Amino acid sequence: MPSTVVLGLQWGDEGKGKIVDMLAADADLVARYQGGQNAGHTMVVEGVKTVTHLLPSGVLQGKPCLLGNGMVIDPVGLYEEMQGMPVPLPEVLALVKISDRAHLLFPSHKLIDGGAQSKEIGTTGKGIGPAYESKVGRRGTLAQSLRHVDKLVETVRLAYEVAGGDASDLTDYLDKLVIAAAVLSPLLVDSAALVNEVYDTGGDLLIEGAQGTWLDIDHGTYPYVTSSNTTIGGACTGLGLPPQKLDYVVGIVKAYTTRVGAGKHATELLDATGDHLRERGNEYGSTTGRPRRVGWLDLVAVKQAILINGVDELAIMKIDVLDELDEILVATAYEVDGAELVRFPSDQDVFEASKPVYQPLPGWKCNTIGMTNIDDLPPLAKAYLDFIETHVGIPIRFISTGPGREETIVV
Ligand code: IMP
Repeated sequence: MPSTVVLGLQWGDEGKGKIVDMLAADADLVARYQGGQNAGHTMVVEGVKTVTHLLPSGVLQGKPCLLGNGMVIDPVGLYEEMQGMPVPLPEVLALVKISDRAHLLFPSHKLIDGGAQSKEIGTTGKGIGPAYESKVGRRGTLAQSLRHVDKLVETVRLAYEVAGGDASDLTDYLDKLVIAAAVLSPLLVDSAALVNEVYDTGGDLLIEGAQGTWLDIDHGTYPYVTSSNTTIGGACTGLGLPPQKLDYVVGIVKAYTTRVGAGKHATELLDATGDHLRERGNEYGSTTGRPRRVGWLDLVAVKQAILINGVDELAIMKIDVLDELDEILVATAYEVDGAELVRFPSDQDVFEASKPVYQPLPGWKCNTIGMTNIDDLPPLAKAYLDFIETHVGIPIRFISTGPGREETIVV
């Protein structure tokens, strides 16, 4: 496929990193289009776990990677992440390009993100909202400023003081910024030119979303969202790629639902089953370590996310986490004041008032960990997947049976 977009259909943490890492084997360029260090994309290759926050997940496949203009980037954080990769730094530097129109994220943004409003939302505290506020408020700093480090240092210092901080606390950061700017500025590119050139010359473009559909600033469960467009439109604006060049969309869905931070979780399990899934699925934030709020699969949300994103095929992740359950519930509708809703409500008060209507399905009660062949799946696991496919009306292409790259069934 000339271009493939991989994005999440829930509240993030669906397992996008693993699928991007897999698909990157055939890519000529892997590009992130939004978000920043709030993301945590986990990959397990030959038993070694790597988490990326800013770098596209294609980096472990040794593929050229682009940080798109829609991202907000802490240059010091990016350089540190590059140094921490299992791939030697010169190789990482040879792979990575950064849009000169991406926005920079500074300690001032993180300082503001430590405030009361952020705590109420339950943000990751990485400065994401304040950095996008600077951008939209036309007070932001473009990545191209890395080319003018003296001016940049002054900007960072001033922004920190305006945010109420003491600039003398920044000495260490500013020293690192000078080094990071020298290393990163040769990587700056015109990203719109790059992605279009790869596409127009027949290259395979892999486009990596971060967070999930229901955290989208426009379509998500506002205000309990992140500050970027995680949905399909973000891929166009965050890279400079026109919609006709988005050929194929893979929607990533965890076999159950998790959410981190505040905001309603319609199918949340606050009982022993929830604890079991959290432990078995290791549902702890890869960026913040926070325990994720675990619940049943919510197909009302998934179906609407498919609509918004024009999803072609699904990847169902972590099916093995459900292995030990006697019964599995799936939400197929919401009930509000006695009426049944099959479509995710755009009115947040209605969403707040809604209760899930569940379809119970029998558990398969046997081990699916590491399976790579659809024929090996127990019939009741297949029935669970068939139920999802029939309900949402699009095919499942990938089924993940473990964190490792190879622990995957390709249908
Ligand atoms: P922010 O993106 O740090 O501003 O956080 C806003 C909301 O999005 C909070 O509820 C976070 O927990 C959530 N969030 C941000 N990034 C991720 C992610 O990568 N996975 C899951 N939730 C996320």
